[in-house]
Amino acid sequence: MMLTTNNRLQQAEEALQKAKEKLNERYRLGYHIVAPANWINDPNGLVQFKGEYHVFYQHHPYDENWGPMHWGHAKSKDLVHWEHLPVALAPGDACDKDGCFSGSAVDNDGELTLIYTGHHYTDKEKDLFTQNQNIAVSQDGVTFEKAEENPVIAEPPADSAHHFRDPKVWKHGDSWYMILGNATKDEVGRVILYRSADLRKWEYIGVLAQSEGTLGYMWECPDFFELDGKHVLLISPQGLEAEGDLYNNRFQTGYLIGEYDYETNKFSHGEFIEMDNGHDFYAVQTLKDDKGRRIAIGWMDMWESNMPTKEDGWCGALTLPRELTLDKRNKVLMNPVDELTLLRETEHKVFANQSISGNYLAKTNQDLIELKVEFDLTKTTAQAVGFKIRGLDQEETVLRYQVKDQKLVLDCTKHGKKEDGIRRTALEAGDRLSLRVFIDRSSVEIFANEGQATMTSRIYPQHERLGIELFAEDGDAQVSEFTYWSLKDIWK
Ligand code: FRU
Repeated sequence: MMLTTNNRLQQAEEALQKAKEKLNERYRLGYHIVAPANWINDPNGLVQFKGEYHVFYQHHPYDENWGPMHWGHAKSKDLVHWEHLPVALAPGDACDKDGCFSGSAVDNDGELTLIYTGHHYTDKEKDLFTQNQNIAVSQDGVTFEKAEENPVIAEPPADSAHHFRDPKVWKHGDSWYMILGNATKDEVGRVILYRSADLRKWEYIGVLAQSEGTLGYMWECPDFFELDGKHVLLISPQGLEAEGDLYNNRFQTGYLIGEYDYETNKFSHGEFIEMDNGHDFYAVQTLKDDKGRRIAIGWMDMWESNMPTKEDGWCGALTLPRELTLDKRNKVLMNPVDELTLLRETEHKVFANQSISGNYLAKTNQDLIELKVEFDLTKTTAQAVGFKIRGLDQEETVLRYQVKDQKLVLDCTKHGKKEDGIRRTALEAGDRLSLRVFIDRSSVEIFANEGQATMTSRIYPQHERLGIELFAEDGDAQVSEFTYWSLKDIWK
């Protein structure tokens, strides 16, 4: 028997309630968005509605593994304290038979509108499918009704492959614009653009940007916005080959930046730039809030990586919200939103303006930590400086800055990443290396020199091994600041 949408949503809630009772908390994140239980991937529908921030996410409420995609839902007044809301979308209607895939949200004059991809298998075994675009609306921001007009875009343009998903919608002037992740028939990744007056009837405008052959076979999860006078196109291309320190994950998220003309739909842009050089950062989406900030949240995992929390009844998380800005060289910087200081409980000023050689261990019994370390490189003779967290020697995550070759190296080999544990990125630190680091029970997010480099990875420490150890290798290091804060668990 076909269940109605409401039955399906209720059934999903019941499944989550049951799954919650069986959670193993060992790696459960304390201040990141996670699902109440079971699987989560991409952030969806980032929006401010009636003064609150809403975040939706790809969610499988019945299992720790990916499956028929629902939209999970959380909201917050301050981007820090999140509250779970009921599952917003369940698949199974004619317009979204096998999944409600990624998409976005807009506040359409007091009506919260979700725009998402309907997924339809034509042959599941062979992973053959079609995709279309749909909308769902809500007055209260909690319960959603799929529109009668669905699908609002039934099929891709004639020259397109079947990959046709992840609508991001925004308003410019009097029109709504939608971009979609797409590929040409011969598998060249691209982003295509539509326009609408009412979110229901869409006119195809054309290609916004396309790979010249080196940027993958499919571009997922696009986003497009103005940032400090430039236009930024975020994409998550599939199919890039690793090039030295770049593109080391299965798929990557990055951006093209340039000038855009709405009249001609011409986007002139530079090279693709990867946004984060850790292991787990993908499918990033943004919103512009009422303070004028451009805020980005990503999925803090990667397809096919080791995900030991599946044994614990949950899997997947979103990154902390990060504010995007441009530096003088038109590089997009990511930094934690200011509100995250609300997480701070106790401040521990370990020391300041002190020289260290070898290792210095700060003992702590805290597992939720924000760490601030600054090295004065003008008074540092060490070849490498950095820190180790969550255990010593047998087990640890290590961040090392190699002073001479100006590289930041993150090593999570001993914390669940195994042979693929190391990531590197260039960082011209200059006179000072400033590290702001958020450590949760199974993640680390590193913001170096105010966002000049960021590295985000899931880590899986085996035991309750705590402590933060600074080190200076082959010489001394001048530490201008070494402070950490124990952070609040927002879910307890
Ligand atoms: C990106 C993605 C999207 C798709 C969704 C399905 O991680 O593959 O392209 O909509 O996940 O869950």
